[in-house]
Amino acid sequence: MVMNAERHASTAIERAALLLREGGLVAFPTETVYGLGANALDLAAVARIFDVKGRPRFDPLIVHIADRSDLEPLVTEFPPAARQLADRFWPGPLTLVLPKAAIVPDLVTAGGPTVAVRIPDHPLALALLRAAGLPVAAPSANPFGRVSPTTAEHVREQLGDRIDLILDGGPCRVGIESTVLQLTDGRARLLRPGGVTLEEIEAVIGRVTVPDPAEFSRRATLLPGARPMDEGMVAGLASPGLLPQHYAPRTRLVLVDDSETHEVSEVGTGRRVGLLSARPFSGTGLYQAVEVLSQTGDLCESAANFFAALRRLDAAGLDLIIAQTFPEQGLGRALNDRLRRAASKC
Ligand code: TXA
Ligand code: MG
Repeated sequence: MVMNAERHASTAIERAALLLREGGLVAFPTETVYGLGANALDLAAVARIFDVKGRPRFDPLIVHIADRSDLEPLVTEFPPAARQLADRFWPGPLTLVLPKAAIVPDLVTAGGPTVAVRIPDHPLALALLRAAGLPVAAPSANPFGRVSPTTAEHVREQLGDRIDLILDGGPCRVGIESTVLQLTDGRARLLRPGGVTLEEIEAVIGRVTVPDPAEFSRRATLLPGARPMDEGMVAGLASPGLLPQHYAPRTRLVLVDDSETHEVSEVGTGRRVGLLSARPFSGTGLYQAVEVLSQTGDLCESAANFFAALRRLDAAGLDLIIAQTFPEQGLGRALNDRLRRAASKC
């Protein structure tokens, strides 16, 4: 069932909070993408998240909280860098990976020693978390590896019949997932670029380690034979979100790094080709479908439109989607990351 929480906020939130307390699954809006939430301390409820998404159990979940005071029971350390970043970016699209407390189930953290936590910057998400009075484990509300949902309708299409309630809060403002930053052993490591940029983080805490994506692709090849919760494997894969293929449409997607997309040989050969364009584009006649992410080349606007545009192209019956990459800076880094994974076939 989809409840329009913008119009009937208090009833919808009370109902959703009750469902969470009773072990149900509730999809809810955040500023980044819609999340699929369950009580993080209820093993059966968390297990349902993995089942409904078809998500392997070696991929840990982010725990969502409403207030800084809710963090204390979940972690054993809150280092100064984490405090500075939380002061600056919470509520907001930054997830901090910190040493976990015993209360956090191993299922949530994939058996690892850390837990990922964030305070989302969305009034409905915060109202829900406060009404439920629980930490809420929530991955993006899409089947594993597929395009993330930025509207309630996206969630309904993909998971509607398998979850208890969808809170409809309209389209997500940021449109791409949170930045995941690990803060352990006195080091800061970027595990996933996202809504808070690397530049913004480094302005607060100084140098951040950015793992080489190739290293993770190599390690990810270990995964198929590995058993869920296999300790060695989890240790080898700092953040399974770095799996090379993710956020993927069904249509084949190729990347080009300049505006000369009409030179791509497959355009004009009778195949149905679509374009995901970072900027305004005049040669639309070459393509069966064109999605322009921003008329002004604005990266925030591009991020907000990104997943919905990718979905529309994927539904357009195309043979191929050509996507333009972004400048590798600011939100462009996160957008390129999503594009590379959408394009990767492994
Ligand atoms: O914006 C977001 O982060 C959204 C909204 C709903 O909050 N959530 C989201 O969750 O994108 P999900 O599950 O789709 O992505 C979580 C990422 C995955 O890449 C996962 O591997 C990583 O965070 N992660 C979670 N816990 C971790 C941990 N303890 N250590 C390292 N990586 C972790
Ligand atoms: Mg996801």
